[in-house]
Amino acid sequence: MSAEIIDGKAFAATVREKVATHVARLKEEAGIVPGLAVVLVGEDPASQVYVRSKGKQTVEVGMNSYEHKLAADTSEADLLALITQLNNDPAVHGILVQLPLPGHLNEDLVINSIDPAKDVDGFHISNVGLLGTGQKSMVPCTPLGCLMMLRDHLGSLSGLNAVVIGRSNIVGKPMANLLLGDSCTVTIAHSRTRDLADVVRRADIVVAAVGRAEMVPGDWIGPGATVIDVGINRIDKPGGGTRLVGDVDFASASAVAGAITPVPGGVGPMTIACLLANTLTACCRANGLEEPEGLTA
Ligand code: GUN
Repeated sequence: MSAEIIDGKAFAATVREKVATHVARLKEEAGIVPGLAVVLVGEDPASQVYVRSKGKQTVEVGMNSYEHKLAADTSEADLLALITQLNNDPAVHGILVQLPLPGHLNEDLVINSIDPAKDVDGFHISNVGLLGTGQKSMVPCTPLGCLMMLRDHLGSLSGLNAVVIGRSNIVGKPMANLLLGDSCTVTIAHSRTRDLADVVRRADIVVAAVGRAEMVPGDWIGPGATVIDVGINRIDKPGGGTRLVGDVDFASASAVAGAITPVPGGVGPMTIACLLANTLTACCRANGLEEPEGLTA
């Protein structure tokens, strides 16, 4: 059997279209334009690429983009002052501080100084707690994108066995909470899990988010399972150069799985699409307006 490929690039385009349609309606009917502020401290090249891409896509869906680029030696006090200013700015509905921050800045302190209602990353401790207790929150973008793809592919997730490999605060833990919210039976596996192959083989849904190139071989995957590969790992090619691979060995897994996300072109494009969806959601909530359907958890 050859797995169906879940096309994240195409799915992300449909999410952006939905967001753009809703943004246009907001503008026309209420005169409101959602605004996303992105704060970048320092000159990390990968972060610069992400921030540029976020700004471009924000404008493409009709939202306002506010970029704040600060020097690498910016003091914590100055960064916190900027966040306070953005918290108090009614034109800003979403705030994202690009991570990682330079070493002298306390990431937890900075993230927790963002107004939880504007925390479009869903990293604020209040949002983590709300999600963990099944209440309305801002949801981290990558797990939200995975959930959207799973719902789109499988319909109801109720009663399915889901294994999340990886226990990070950014993907693994919120992913597990979202799957629990959709009534899956959830296992969080990690580097210390015993008999990982057997645990994964029993799953109807496998979400791999460990950051280790091709660590999940096809013979760990149960026949017909749906595989969501969050990993983006750069490896050397035998003849020179590099290529991107996921945490799952795509060639062997796609021969067994029912459906699988490729790398690149799977989960990756969904992250920024969900950031835009979260900004729209935050804007609707801030204005007491109905939230867009299908763009939240
Ligand atoms: N750096 C890499 N990914 C992310 C993300 O999703 N959010 C933020 N704030 N920083 C990141």
